[in-house]
Amino acid sequence: MSEFIITYTPCFRKNMIKELLEIDSNIKIKDVFSSGILSISTNLDTYDFINHLLQKSPIFIKHIMPIFLKGKITGNLFEDRIRILEQMEKIAMLNGCDPFSVQCRIVNGGSNGLGYSSKDMEVFLGTYYEGLGNIPVFSDSSLKNDNVKILSVLINKNDYYLGFSTSTENLNFSCDEYRIFSRNGREISRAENKLKEALSKFNIRLNGAGCALDIGAAPGGWTKVLADYGYYVVAVDPGRLKPELYNNPKIKHYQCRIEDLQFENYFDIIVNDMNVDPQTTARIMNTLSCILKDNGLAIVTLKLPDKVEEDIKESTEILNENYDIVTIKSLFHNRQEVTSLLKKKPLQRCKTRKQTLL
Ligand SMILES: C[S@@+](CC[C@H](N)C(=O)[O-])C[C@H]1O[C@@H](n2cnc3c(N)ncnc32)[C@H](O)[C@@H]1O
Repeated sequence: MSEFIITYTPCFRKNMIKELLEIDSNIKIKDVFSSGILSISTNLDTYDFINHLLQKSPIFIKHIMPIFLKGKITGNLFEDRIRILEQMEKIAMLNGCDPFSVQCRIVNGGSNGLGYSSKDMEVFLGTYYEGLGNIPVFSDSSLKNDNVKILSVLINKNDYYLGFSTSTENLNFSCDEYRIFSRNGREISRAENKLKEALSKFNIRLNGAGCALDIGAAPGGWTKVLADYGYYVVAVDPGRLKPELYNNPKIKHYQCRIEDLQFENYFDIIVNDMNVDPQTTARIMNTLSCILKDNGLAIVTLKLPDKVEEDIKESTEILNENYDIVTIKSLFHNRQEVTSLLKKKPLQRCKTRKQTLL
């Protein structure tokens, strides 16, 4: 028997529950902390449950945190941080030189007048464990997906929950990507963070060499991210990009639909965030596979307004003609959509070779 906190996108709650039930049909929901965060109990022990999840690679379960200890807070920072540290010491197995990260999330803290933030708790615990010789890994570090030891704290109203696990076991480096990739006011669009999160989540280290094709590019968030990496970006969208992007010599905008273009050159990476149904996206990606370099990657959002599982099944069947589907995930920055990572199959395994898109 074990307990976990699970995060998910509210509109995919049904799909997330289905994924949980496939792991253990006796799973019980214990508490719903907010839309998108709940706790469950399972008859499986902690590591059985985690291993089953890792094997399944779920789409809709975003982040999990094993609950090893729970208790009450007082609402006073000085008392709570000592109380939580004392309890954390009972479960955190750090050897004095381990990479670690403290992740605190406060849900429903504001309404009971909690006078401190997640950051206050993270800094206190982090400073303590760093003082013992362990190596802090911060959420903006390039090591995001590596196997870092995570000290998790969740505070909900008057209760705290503590967990200790690795980032891999949690399915996700961070419990709160909204905070990490939160807008800094310089983004072209909200979507910019969606691509940044996908690159981090899928552990893709772009080298920025060569050409990128961005379809459904306006207003240009993904285009900017790719150009900042160093790619020459061909952006395609009937809509306009943000004015500042037109001064960037690394960006060429075709103001039209992708179906109206023919390319003669090859691309190192293709990204696609078009707001069309996922089957159309998949068919367009198949036709474009012939201009993607061998083993080239594609990052593609699949918009899922209603028939979620059916749409994923149908679009992945289409994509499978020319791509290996590396993974599909509901990311923190996805709303009613999921993000997929595709790898072009070697040409002899591709079915669609024509380039005409219509
Ligand atoms: C969600 S927005 C893309 C946001 C973009 N990724 C960013 O970072 O700013 C979707 C875009 O897809 C474009 N789109 C829809 N159908 C298209 C098509 N057939 N060809 C090219 N772009 C298309 C729309 O014009 C819209 O601008």
